[in-house]
Amino acid sequence: MTTPAELPYLDYAATTPVDHRVMAAMTDCLGREGVFGNPSSRHPWGRAAEALVADAAGQVGALIGGDPAGVVWTSGATEADNLAILGCARFARERGRGDHVVSVRTEHAAVLEPLEQLRREGMHVTLLTPEADGRVTPEAVRAAVTEDTVLVSVMHVNNEIGTVQDIAGIGAALADHPARFHVDAAQSAGRLPIRVDAWGVDLLSLSAHKIYGPKGVGALWVRRRPRVRLAPLLHGGGQQGGRRPGTLAPHLIAGMGRACELAQDGPETEAPGLRTLRRSLRDRLLALDGVVVNGQDDGSPHILNMSFGCVHGDALQAELEGLGVSAGSACSSSARGPSHVLRALGVPDALAHSSLRFSLGRWTTEADVDRAADRVEDAVRRLRAFSPAWRRYRSGTSLEALYRRNPEPAQPSNREG
Ligand SMILES: Cc1ncc(COP(=O)(O)O)c(C=O)c1O
Repeated sequence: MTTPAELPYLDYAATTPVDHRVMAAMTDCLGREGVFGNPSSRHPWGRAAEALVADAAGQVGALIGGDPAGVVWTSGATEADNLAILGCARFARERGRGDHVVSVRTEHAAVLEPLEQLRREGMHVTLLTPEADGRVTPEAVRAAVTEDTVLVSVMHVNNEIGTVQDIAGIGAALADHPARFHVDAAQSAGRLPIRVDAWGVDLLSLSAHKIYGPKGVGALWVRRRPRVRLAPLLHGGGQQGGRRPGTLAPHLIAGMGRACELAQDGPETEAPGLRTLRRSLRDRLLALDGVVVNGQDDGSPHILNMSFGCVHGDALQAELEGLGVSAGSACSSSARGPSHVLRALGVPDALAHSSLRFSLGRWTTEADVDRAADRVEDAVRRLRAFSPAWRRYRSGTSLEALYRRNPEPAQPSNREG
């Protein structure tokens, strides 16, 4: 199937195309003339690859304000999250340091599912319910830790709603507690500044394909001073100090390094433009009336999540066929049931079902945003023409009265990205 180039792609939070400059760095590692060696080999080919991997670690370290020696290469943020959570909690528990972990209901499944696994292994997990805009306060996090807490995991930017957590504030609130602090920064890299040292972060997950790098590579940054230790998930040849063994892939690592280098001034150079586009899309769609922004009104520059009242989610998805957005709470073949993120915010299921996530990126133009807004406006107007709920809303019934809140938070969904 070919990609419909005439339709705008507004799903950069799911994945990004690879930047040509990144492709060039990757190509330099392939073929007989390239830096193709095994970075563990002790001959010139191996040493060249080893040097390339060290340079890429420097590029990651520069992006996040941390020691490059702390970089552990993984297959992506899912693996980085698993290694951080399972590795850190199991290591601490095996040494009798405690058996309690704190996180938030709105985390990505790559965090929530390892937490569920820890629960099956007999550990205790506290999941905080965020405020209505998706934020947790540093005070709420601090209040949840006990003397048994070994790990706290809070994502920087939420992938569904774009809410930005106060990572510096949470790090400061945990400064006097021995628990390790893990942050999933897959969505914030390149859009917001990241400063692991200044913020007191011990472990940080990244993914190359969210920042115009290749799929199949990511990193977990692990603090070296004071040293954070992990029980490995994989066992093998001892690469990466045994923390994540397996032959390193120079072409993927070079691509991730270059992507991080290009992302470094993204918060200054790209984010303001994205924020402007996000605002204009938001304002156009809010003018439809009966529409709500899910999450922070002005969260991450690249993610906008809105629910469209008085339209049926399935019908909306059908109307928007072909548009590059993440639609509804059961949008993909792998997703089941309502979004756990929207549910944790207290969004009623029917409104969650008629939600759309727009995510903007390096090549999004004003024309893309306009064309997407035109399509959504047309679809919503057409569907509302037949909607009894819309007639009730127009004659004064509020959205709150039309949609009842959910009684219970749901388990994680598998929404893509
Ligand atoms: C916040 C967040 N964490 C983790 C992941 C998983 O990343 P990856 O696709 O690199 O495994 C994603 C994207 O899917 C994400 O948005």
